[in-house]
Amino acid sequence: MKRREFLQLGALSTAGLCLPRWSLAQVNAVQPYHYRLTAELAEAELVTGIKTPVMAFNGQTPAPIIRAKQGQPIRIEFENKLNEPTTIHWHGLRIPIEMDGVPFLSQPPVMPGETFVYEFTPPDGGTFWYHPHMNSVEQLGRGLVGALVVEEAVKPSFDIDETLILKHWHINDQGEWQVLSQPRYAARMGTPGEWGTVNGLKQPQYRYPAGSLVRLRVVNVDNTMTYHLRLKGVEAQVIAIDGNPISEPYPLMQHKMGPGMRLDVAFIMPNTAKPFVLEHMRGKFGFPMASFARNEQVVAHQKRTLPKLPLNPIPVPDLTNAETVNFIFEWEGAISPSDQSGQAHPTFWLINRRPWQGMGPGNIPEPVANLKLGKSYIFDLRNNTQYHHPIHLHGHTFWVLEMDGEPVKPFHTDTILLGKNGRAKAAFVADNPGRWMYHCHVIEHMKTGLMGYIQVS
Ligand code: C2O
Ligand code: CU
Ligand code: CU
Repeated sequence: MKRREFLQLGALSTAGLCLPRWSLAQVNAVQPYHYRLTAELAEAELVTGIKTPVMAFNGQTPAPIIRAKQGQPIRIEFENKLNEPTTIHWHGLRIPIEMDGVPFLSQPPVMPGETFVYEFTPPDGGTFWYHPHMNSVEQLGRGLVGALVVEEAVKPSFDIDETLILKHWHINDQGEWQVLSQPRYAARMGTPGEWGTVNGLKQPQYRYPAGSLVRLRVVNVDNTMTYHLRLKGVEAQVIAIDGNPISEPYPLMQHKMGPGMRLDVAFIMPNTAKPFVLEHMRGKFGFPMASFARNEQVVAHQKRTLPKLPLNPIPVPDLTNAETVNFIFEWEGAISPSDQSGQAHPTFWLINRRPWQGMGPGNIPEPVANLKLGKSYIFDLRNNTQYHHPIHLHGHTFWVLEMDGEPVKPFHTDTILLGKNGRAKAAFVADNPGRWMYHCHVIEHMKTGLMGYIQVS
């Protein structure tokens, strides 16, 4: 089986078939979306010729891409082969709370050697991802991050469907681990990794036939980094934000993508010799992340058009009767004293004047808001800090109405990127009962206070 393929159970594997990178062959099989997944210690060649110890899904970096289909049940038998407890969270999926993968809140932690079966039916098509929700600085930072692609029930006809997983690893150019989190950075923008990769590779090149219709699914799985993306040298269209198709695609100029966020772009592969580049902009300067070049084949000579994505069936909030709930994100900056084990648990960030207290068995803090099942809400988010915060809600999808006091062309997202002193208004229907995490996706921010949960009942 090839590196990026995935161990599939049932009829297909007994027939000796592997999942190709892009195929719908499994749809008519008996158990088409039945997978086995492990979390384990492994090694990865992030720096050419050097092995770095990592935590990996199925021993692979990048993690296997899990392919599901909108409206079709998926079953993932997950085994924890780490020597610490973990869980898997399916970021962006509107699924029942029992499958949300948050320890104590939605399930007991999966202990070393244990197996937990995740089973759900993704209601929306698009680009999502998966990661543990325990010891996240370490577990995500060391590599337990992967893409979950939910194919649309009615498949748009792209020739190429590529997933690009962006991550800056906390390693040096000798492949040695550096500190994953430093308090002085946790209290600011987060501790940045220095080794930028796409699909675990430094500046990989992708080759496609000229004329092909290309869909890129860009996934920011980084603990800290906000990418300012641009594709230099091709006319690309933004077709989906955080997995959710937008009604009117628009040209990609530069797109800001906080941790946890995704972006789908589409273009027709130009028939020119010069490669073009995916860049991460820092101020005026573009840092190349990946490049794209034509290969020997040509798909089409005649003019082709990019397919449109079908919109997701996300419930429409009733704005006239929606209740507004205010959230203020603030800096606290107090460093609390060490606990008995001598480990410091600093608190830097607050949601509505409260830092996350942590939780354990039989010890669940109060929710930051209680919502009535079926009712529409408008969340008014204010960032009273100098740092950006990608604010993420589990189990629901926001309909963003305003950013920084200005109305925007509404779009769906599970993660709202608040800039410094930024503000946003977003509506949704609280239609999924449960206790749903609500946190900043800069992992060190959530670990040092910027986390809570919303109760829907
Ligand atoms: Cu990617 Cu609590 O989430
Ligand atoms: Cu999530
Ligand atoms: Cu934050």
